[in-house]
Amino acid sequence: MEFINLKAQYAAYKTEIDAATLATLASGRFIMGKEVETLESALCDYTGAKYAVSCSSGTDALFIALLALRIKEQDEVIVSPFTFAATIEAIALRGGKPVFVDIQERDANIDPDLIEKAVTPRTKAIIPVSLYGNCADFDPINEIANRRGLIVIEDGCQSFGAIYKGKKSGNLCAIGTTSFFPSKPLGCYGDGGAIFTSDETLYNKMARIRNHGQTERYEHEEIGLNGRLDALQAAILNVKLKHFDDELAARRAIAARYDEALADVKRLPHDQNGAIAQYTIRIQDRDRLARALSDRGVPTAIHYPKPLHLQRAYAYLGYKSGDFPIAEKLANEVLSLPFSAFLAQEEQEQTIAAVKALCR
Ligand SMILES: Cc1ncc(COP(=O)(O)O)c(C=O)c1O
Repeated sequence: MEFINLKAQYAAYKTEIDAATLATLASGRFIMGKEVETLESALCDYTGAKYAVSCSSGTDALFIALLALRIKEQDEVIVSPFTFAATIEAIALRGGKPVFVDIQERDANIDPDLIEKAVTPRTKAIIPVSLYGNCADFDPINEIANRRGLIVIEDGCQSFGAIYKGKKSGNLCAIGTTSFFPSKPLGCYGDGGAIFTSDETLYNKMARIRNHGQTERYEHEEIGLNGRLDALQAAILNVKLKHFDDELAARRAIAARYDEALADVKRLPHDQNGAIAQYTIRIQDRDRLARALSDRGVPTAIHYPKPLHLQRAYAYLGYKSGDFPIAEKLANEVLSLPFSAFLAQEEQEQTIAAVKALCR
């Protein structure tokens, strides 16, 4: 059994993906061009954001956003420590300071009630992560940001397709970002990402930065980078986006099946309007369970075993064990089960039976 069955996914769309890929190869246009434009317009339609800038990865989406906001040395950005390192890399690479705030236990997202205490005169932005496909609680976060003059950037790398109070992830605050890494809710077959905004000035800036800060060829308005999405990946995404809502419905149905069968097992609740990037249970003796499931042919994953404030790369920030108790507790307990729209019925049953037998 695969943790995420990308082979089955490709097989389901093979005819369309092969045709789109071959047509792009034949077009001779591999950078920017029609497929990229089509995708950006479809992403706007899907998320409701006025503008979308496709880019080379979720990591670069965050980096381009911070470059556009001119985050610089000593600037502080508030973020949760229970996320993938990419959420804070861009802050640190700019010489800024990630300021951690603990998560809420119910959804593993940043706790809005703790944010205000972390705001200082140096705070410039807040990056809530919509982890596991559950949107962070954007109403109170946007309210604090408006009152304190801060910008909010959603790290929606795991939440494309999720809905928060009627609005889609990516369109919940000043800037949204996502990742098209293959295992993400909407994945391409390589690296990719996107940035969303409804602010025209920010859009123009981010679109320029993504392409070397150019306004036209060899006219560099500002410092940028090569953060473009390949036309081939855009062509694949244009096919996959058409099937995305069906995949989301299948994910939600499989999650409901797991919920019903594993009602006695402690779980990290998922929002039925979320993107359900992972199906995650919580268990005290997590590593033993992961080994036992593997012995029964059930692969698992841990997102994430060590919070960022305890990682060696970020030791210079001066945090220590015990600083963010909820993040540390979840890091010891979470275990994600095999999950994707293409998880076969027998695989679901095999997973359920193994978890039930081992979690008695
Ligand atoms: C929460 C989060 N942020 C950022 C990223 C970075 O995305 P990418 O792998 O596309 O650079 C990821 C994906 O791995 C992620 O899960």
